[in-house]
Amino acid sequence: MSDLALLDGKRILLIISGGIAAYKSLELIRRLKERGCRVRCVLTAGGSKFVTPLSVSALSEEKVFTDLWSLTDEAEMGHIRLSREADLVVVAPASADILAKMAAGLADDLATTALLATDKAVLVAPAMNVMMWVHPATRANVTTLEARGVRRVGPDSGDMACGEVGAGRMSEPMAIVAAIAAFFAEQAPPRPLAGLHALVTSGPTHEPIDPVRYIANRSSGKQGHAVAAALARLGARVTLVSGPTHEPDPAGAAVLRVETAREMLAACEAALPADVAVCAAAVADWRFEAAGQKLKKEGGGPPRLVLAENPDILATLSRPGPVRPRLVVGFAAETERVLEHAGAKLRRKGCDWILANDVSPGSGVFGGDSNAVHLLTRDGNDVESWPRAGKDEVAARLAERIALHFTT
Ligand code: CTP
Repeated sequence: MSDLALLDGKRILLIISGGIAAYKSLELIRRLKERGCRVRCVLTAGGSKFVTPLSVSALSEEKVFTDLWSLTDEAEMGHIRLSREADLVVVAPASADILAKMAAGLADDLATTALLATDKAVLVAPAMNVMMWVHPATRANVTTLEARGVRRVGPDSGDMACGEVGAGRMSEPMAIVAAIAAFFAEQAPPRPLAGLHALVTSGPTHEPIDPVRYIANRSSGKQGHAVAAALARLGARVTLVSGPTHEPDPAGAAVLRVETAREMLAACEAALPADVAVCAAAVADWRFEAAGQKLKKEGGGPPRLVLAENPDILATLSRPGPVRPRLVVGFAAETERVLEHAGAKLRRKGCDWILANDVSPGSGVFGGDSNAVHLLTRDGNDVESWPRAGKDEVAARLAERIALHFTT
């Protein structure tokens, strides 16, 4: 995953302690903001000798917190909330003094209190004179902090502001950004489908009768949308071709909206090649030869509606050929002899897997929230029956199964 994707929307509590390197923290704020982070800053008394609250606040576009004893800050935010409303606490620069206080568990100002009160991971970017860095006291403090799980980036070696040469320079802002991104990469859930393109169909189709009327079905699009979201969570690039639904666009999927079965097929074919296709749409089997004008009651009785068969999208995508997805999965909505009919459907349509669900009256599946499903694979010869579960869980399970298929 790119730094941008890892950092976008992350909340960073940046503690700026006293050190000449504090000027680099201004640059750090800018780099984090550019990547979509929300950066809230605490400036220690020492830190504010090197950078001003005004510049920190201007760059972070947030109020800067400096004082443990500020009644207004405490009423608005409170140091406990401040320390918890972050995804990561970063101390940059981390002076020898603040490292010592952290190791000892002191809490005599806002920064150290927040560090003691936080339940979030902490990353320090030490910055100090080389002799202070190599001093046994600092060494012991760093060892203690690391044993407690505090993460560290730097310090670098080189010319120092004090004129000496050696280790103690704060890491460059981009190296700190990389360390922050590395932290979030470790936290990110596994993405076994990264690099794969998944095509998903969802929802009903609307088939026009005339310019103002259509027939439709009761599909809500919940299952297909949940499948698209689950595949995206596992890292797939997802194209969701959806008929008219009230479902919100799933996070991480590119959504193409269509009305009719023929539009759905055209959108799917245009989205190829894909590694996996999951057809969850309840595509209308028939369409009308739609009238060009609104049908009128003209006293001659109801109009004669002529039906034509719609293309079968699942069967079309399953057809052998250079752009056939490596795995094509269909759904079978059945009201009786569920496994038998689903197996026959799998073979007839030529797909690889079929998820069979019972839509008999009273099952509550169509438009409902939960689904009793069986996964048929190997020409319908293997059947996995999954416990009745919410559509999100069915989707997550299917996405895991697809990931297993591609990784083993
Ligand atoms: N499907 C499709 N295009 C169609 C009809 C169905 O892609 N024109 C797909 C559905 O998305 C689903 C699978 O085929 O994955 C089976 O849908 P279902 O409605 O159960 O089956 P039908 O093909 O309509 O068969 P029948 O009505 O005989 O049960």
